[in-house]
Amino acid sequence: MTAPNGHQQASPATGERKEIPMYEPVRVGLVGLGRMGRFHATNLAGRIPGARLVRVSDAAEDVARENASRLGGLGWSTRYEDLLEDPEIEAVVVASPTHLHAEMVEAAAASGKHVFCEKPISHDLERTYDAIEAAREAGVGLQVGFQRRHDPDYRAAKERISAGHIGEVYLFRTTLSDMRSPGFDYIEGSGGFFADVTVHDFDAAHWLVGEITEVTAAGAALSDPGFEEVGDIDNAVITLRFADGALGVIDNSRVAGYGYECSSEIVGHRGTLRVGDHRRVSLETLTPGRACRDHVSDFVERFADAYREEMEHFVRVVRGEAEPEPNGTDAAAATVLARAAERSHREGRTVRLDRERRDGEVLYEEAGA
Ligand SMILES: NC(=O)c1ccc[n+]([C@@H]2O[C@H](COP(=O)([O-])OP(=O)(O)OC[C@H]3O[C@@H](n4cnc5c(N)ncnc54)[C@H](O)[C@@H]3O)[C@@H](O)[C@H]2O)c1
Repeated sequence: MTAPNGHQQASPATGERKEIPMYEPVRVGLVGLGRMGRFHATNLAGRIPGARLVRVSDAAEDVARENASRLGGLGWSTRYEDLLEDPEIEAVVVASPTHLHAEMVEAAAASGKHVFCEKPISHDLERTYDAIEAAREAGVGLQVGFQRRHDPDYRAAKERISAGHIGEVYLFRTTLSDMRSPGFDYIEGSGGFFADVTVHDFDAAHWLVGEITEVTAAGAALSDPGFEEVGDIDNAVITLRFADGALGVIDNSRVAGYGYECSSEIVGHRGTLRVGDHRRVSLETLTPGRACRDHVSDFVERFADAYREEMEHFVRVVRGEAEPEPNGTDAAAATVLARAAERSHREGRTVRLDRERRDGEVLYEEAGA
């Protein structure tokens, strides 16, 4: 952990002088400079005062070199190991394709580096648990990239639910849609629609409302025969039953066309919460018979604040000031729920979930699996 380097500040109210800890920025390395990694790298290189991006790595040499230069002449490499062997680096951000996450988390833990890992840790549950265990044994923090937990709107909703403002929750309704699908190269390595897209909604449902006991999913490939060719879908509807009796409904699309949407409604017996402002700017243009406003086109536009705040939180984890949010176990829960949706869709039936406890934390498993 970076050593504090304190200074004193007088309280305006009492005049009393207090020691304010000042830290050197946390030194971070980042691997994977695609859609997500580029955005995290830009944040870490200048928008997060507590962090300093030291080195980036991507298997594609031109991508690594160009991003290093774009971000002000950072060190770069095509080998992930170079980040891990750099003694200056305290923490790594893993934004490579999903199938590489678990091994990269384990290697980071073995090198004593804290890890922020993009979602999901792995499509394979045992690999997910192995990576969690590796971080725990090494005593490093492991935070996972479900950014909605750090979005100011969703956080405000969570605080109101926890404070009892809407009372007992009856219904959780949420929509997550992309404007257009990423390429089939990405889709093929994504682990499938439920593991790649719906997994965000499962984390949100579990975090905002609570334990889930039933998942029923129906999906379809509608926009392009390519989805069927790679054995995937592009639209889905999922219903949930929560342990306390509440119901949930999720709809997802890779091809909404008009823009990116992530909106949710939580209906309780005393009130309803809605999250879903998708404007870039608060401007409406009104002309005869018509009202127009703009709409975000992708997750980076909608969740810019959340991606920055999740990194700020990770910096506090590295400094030992906060627990990872969400942690590896939260990510494992979302993965079990995504697998249950996949099974429900393929087998045309409701999948029931049990829970077990490991090290005091609640985990899901498919009933009778
Ligand atoms: N939290 C979110 O909202 C969100 C959004 C999109 C993607 N993601 C996650 O982020 C991860 C990356 O997704 P993406 O859309 O940025 O993918 P991408 O395909 O755009 O980028 C992946 C990058 O990793 C690089 N790469 C591949 N193999 C590598 C290796 N062995 N070493 C180093 N670099 C390697 C590729 O060259 C590419 O630049 C995925 O796990 C995805 O699930 C999260």
